Amino acid sequence: IGIGVFKESPKSFALFQISPKPGILFQDITTLLLDPKAFQDSIDIFVERFKDKKITVVAGIEARGFIFGPSIALALGAKFVPLRKPKKLPGEVIFEEYMLEYGTDRLEMHVGAVQEVDRALVVDDLIATGGTLCAAIKLLERAGAEVVECACIIEIPELKGRANPIAEKVRSNVKRQ
Ligand code: PRP
Repeated sequence: IGIGVFKESPKSFALFQISPKPGILFQDITTLLLDPKAFQDSIDIFVERFKDKKITVVAGIEARGFIFGPSIALALGAKFVPLRKPKKLPGEVIFEEYMLEYGTDRLEMHVGAVQEVDRALVVDDLIATGGTLCAAIKLLERAGAEVVECACIIEIPELKGRANPIAEKVRSNVKRQ
C-alpha cells in the first residue's frame, strides 16, 4: 500500500477555519457540504479509487466520517460500520484509545460488526496527527478485517500524520487550503 494524494480535487471551495482552543486551528468541512457538486465530486473520487478493490466494509469515524462514509459504502455495495466515541453503541464493543492533538479519546466498534473475510476502507474528514485513524485501523485489524486504505478529505501535513507507520494507509483527496 503506497502513500499518495489524489490529484483530482473537487472544484475549489472555502473551508472554515475556527479555533476551538487557543493555538488549535480547526478545519471545517461543512462549507463543502453546501456545494452539492463539490460534495458529489468528493464521494465520486473515492468511489472511483476503491471500486475495484473488493471493499466489503466502510468504517466511518465519528463524527464526520458519518457524513462521507455511508454514501461511499452504498456506491461500493459495502456495509457501513460506525466507529463511535465512548458509550454511544448499544451492544458489546471492543475499543482503542488514542492521543489527540488536544487530549485523549477512544473509538468503539460493535463486536461482530466485521469478520475476518472483510476488506475495510476507513473514512474520516481529516487527518492531523493520524492518531484517530491509527486507532481505527487497530480496531478493525483486531477484529480480523484487512484494512485496505483510509480516505480523508483534508490533510494537515505539518502534523505528519502519515509519518506514523500504521497511517501509511492514508489517502487524502483535498489538500489543506
Ligand atoms: C477530528 C477529525 C478527526 C480527528 C483527526 O475529530 O474529525 O477524526 O480529529 O485528528 P488526528 O489525526 O490528530 O487523530 P475530533 O477528535 O475533533 O472529534 P469529533 O469528530 O467528535 O469532533
